[in-house]
Amino acid sequence: MIQVLDKKFVPLIKEAEIQQEIKRVAAEIKHDLGDKNPLFLGVLNGVFMFAGDLMKEIDFPCEITFVKCSSYAGLISTGGVKTLIGIDRDLTGRHVVILEDIVDTGLTMKNMIATLQQANPASVRVATCTFKPESLQCDLHLDYVGIKVPSKFLVGYGLDYNGYGRNYRDIYVLAE
Ligand code: IMP
Ligand code: MG
Repeated sequence: MIQVLDKKFVPLIKEAEIQQEIKRVAAEIKHDLGDKNPLFLGVLNGVFMFAGDLMKEIDFPCEITFVKCSSYAGLISTGGVKTLIGIDRDLTGRHVVILEDIVDTGLTMKNMIATLQQANPASVRVATCTFKPESLQCDLHLDYVGIKVPSKFLVGYGLDYNGYGRNYRDIYVLAE
């Protein structure tokens, strides 16, 4: 059990499982894009651990850069669509792989894909560390999924509760 601000969280997914699924995702990406010089686009802040561990498993030419975009305030998704900041590359003709910590309603990803398509990339794919299938509120295709999780509030491995709890190596769920 860990305490994050005023809430208690219990372990849900251990580091070893996360790392094993990241290796699988890296192999899937290599199969599709190993000879296509992909551009990874990490969505800060939550993705920093997933992006770091995934990149250590990628052994072919690629670039990585980061953008900011968030739709959460406290425990509830605001659903509010925010603009992307920080795209510092020309995406024309590039195979873009968005890296996310978690897909919940899917609205963030849906909006981000639409925004990125305007920059004329060769393709846009999504790789997410975790996915809450029961929370999905839109028609969204996820190309690479690490771990499917229940529709509960999680912290750890980059995921935060009001900015705290990102530092844990395992993923925790809000205690009932
Ligand atoms: P979506 O637009 O509802 O799919 O929300 C995606 C964003 O909400 C993610 O990038 C996370 O930053 C945040 N998020 C969703 N679920 C959780 C959670 O359980 N814990 C912490 N952040 C979450
Ligand atoms: Mg996020």
